[in-house]
Amino acid sequence: MAVIALVGNKGGAGKTTLSINLAVALAEQADTVLMDADPQGSSVQWKVIGDSHLPVVVAGEPLDEAIATMARQHQHVVVDCPPSVQAPQTHEALQACDVALIPVQPSPVDLWATVHIEQAIERAKQANSQLSPWLIINQLEPRTTLSRLVREAVAEIDIPVAETAIRRRAIYRSSVLEGKSVYDMGRRGADAVSELNQLIREVIPS
Ligand SMILES: Nc1ncnc2c1ncn2[C@@H]1O[C@H](COP(=O)(O)OP(=O)(O)O)[C@@H](O)[C@H]1O
Ligand SMILES: [Mg+2]
Repeated sequence: MAVIALVGNKGGAGKTTLSINLAVALAEQADTVLMDADPQGSSVQWKVIGDSHLPVVVAGEPLDEAIATMARQHQHVVVDCPPSVQAPQTHEALQACDVALIPVQPSPVDLWATVHIEQAIERAKQANSQLSPWLIINQLEPRTTLSRLVREAVAEIDIPVAETAIRRRAIYRSSVLEGKSVYDMGRRGADAVSELNQLIREVIPS
């Protein structure tokens, strides 16, 4: 059982995309709920346009209490957070989660923006010492891979980087636009499914 929060300080990093796909994947193994804690409501929107069986709920406030309630009712809780470390939702999710996943694009600018999340994680760990944070490289371009600059920037960050990176793939966009996950896309989703399964094995306690 795990509470997994997708957090970060930038929009467009992949929090919602990963929240949806990880929640769908985990739901195949155990009772899972996706909590939409971003006032933008993208995860809820995804549920509305599609026909997924995954339960998606608008997160109540305060978020740490809402998470605790959901964690009593479900085995896995995935929390899609707003793109700001200043947001109370990010702070409360970091207090209440077991695993914090921080998607970042492999550009130096995006990695430098993780300084703030690094501080937020440090603060959260004072009260939530079990917290396991991971940087997830998202939208990796296979041929550019991680440039030397990015590798240096990653080394400066005091958060472990998952070995499994998520590549930039059109299927992540098109599936979500249809209210689906890459797990519903048959062969077209196979490569995405396999990297997500690998990520789950690496960062989610079984
Ligand atoms: N691995 C990926 N490959 C291709 N497109 C992606 C990938 N991850 C995210 N995207 C796209 O990038 C945009 C931002 O992603 P999103 O999950 O909404 O970020 P956030 O929730 O952090 O703001 C969306 O259009 C999404 O479809
Ligand atoms: Mg989002």
